[in-house]
Amino acid sequence: MDFKSEFKRKIEDFEKIIDRYIPSEEEYPNIIFKAMRYSVFAGGKRIRPILLMSACELFGGDLKKAEPFASAIEMIHTYSLIHDDLPAMDNDDYRRGRLTSHKVFGEDIAILTGDALLHHSMETMANACLEFRGVESIKAMQIISNSSGVYGMLSGQVVDIVSEGKEIDGKTLEYIHRNKTSALISASLKAGASIGGASDKDIEIMGEIGEKIGIAFQIQDDILDVTSTTEILGKPVGSDEKNNKVTYVSMYGLEKSKRDVERLSNEAISMLEVFGEKSEFLLELTKYLIKRSN
Ligand code: IPE
Ligand code: IPE
Ligand code: MG
Ligand code: MG
Ligand code: MG
Repeated sequence: MDFKSEFKRKIEDFEKIIDRYIPSEEEYPNIIFKAMRYSVFAGGKRIRPILLMSACELFGGDLKKAEPFASAIEMIHTYSLIHDDLPAMDNDDYRRGRLTSHKVFGEDIAILTGDALLHHSMETMANACLEFRGVESIKAMQIISNSSGVYGMLSGQVVDIVSEGKEIDGKTLEYIHRNKTSALISASLKAGASIGGASDKDIEIMGEIGEKIGIAFQIQDDILDVTSTTEILGKPVGSDEKNNKVTYVSMYGLEKSKRDVERLSNEAISMLEVFGEKSEFLLELTKYLIKRSN
């Protein structure tokens, strides 16, 4: 498989899909639709929707049924980035190679744009549940809403914020990573597996694979914050130090961080191999994430 061109094709396909779920800028009040589109269509690696669709494919599911959920998870992720960048949070001016939402539309509209994307994601999933009926879709919605709220991403962000400037222990840092980032990545694989018709056992296994990929993903994000450039990342480097955050790199050093990204990714790869040839794309995607530069 030519992974790079396959990945590029999946990104392009997904961008056409999500375009159908986000209202046009022509609708009133234009500014909110404009701001939603500004952040969603700024680029981004589209890792979560692609993980969701690939997990659905792995279990032989109907990709049409995965499309609204893949779009919803990218809306949730984009909302989390808009809020994460606000002056009250990480106070960053660039995201996905563009000025952040609050820099362009003001803080008030940026807050509302995050809210809008979150609500719109729930409506998109609820509409899909009504259309497809099956318990697989309802379960996917439950997984995604659970892992993005107080039992996942949101609480990870809470502990990240209240830990700023404090000395935290390894357990707290693990809680932050597991929740602020890994929860949604793991939910992508679980929800995709559910829509694909996987058994409860397989959904659980996909969740465990996602946790490993998700933690490795956040360690790599912490690494790139100190080793990359703003140009390559499309967001400011040095943001963690500026905000006095304890990161994996500041706690364990660069070498151990890199080793742990590899170790966790290799563990995820071994678990994916059990599914045989069908998991080739997910396997290659996991390998790509270890080496990613943005
Ligand atoms: C950035 O996520 C925030 C983290 C959870 C580390 P991504 O690195 O997936 O951001 P985009 O979607 O590609 O912009
Ligand atoms: C944010 O983590 C994770 C989210 C839930 C948005 P970071 O604050 O490290 O993400 P970046 O580096 O700004 O993308
Ligand atoms: Mg943050
Ligand atoms: Mg940030
Ligand atoms: Mg970061």
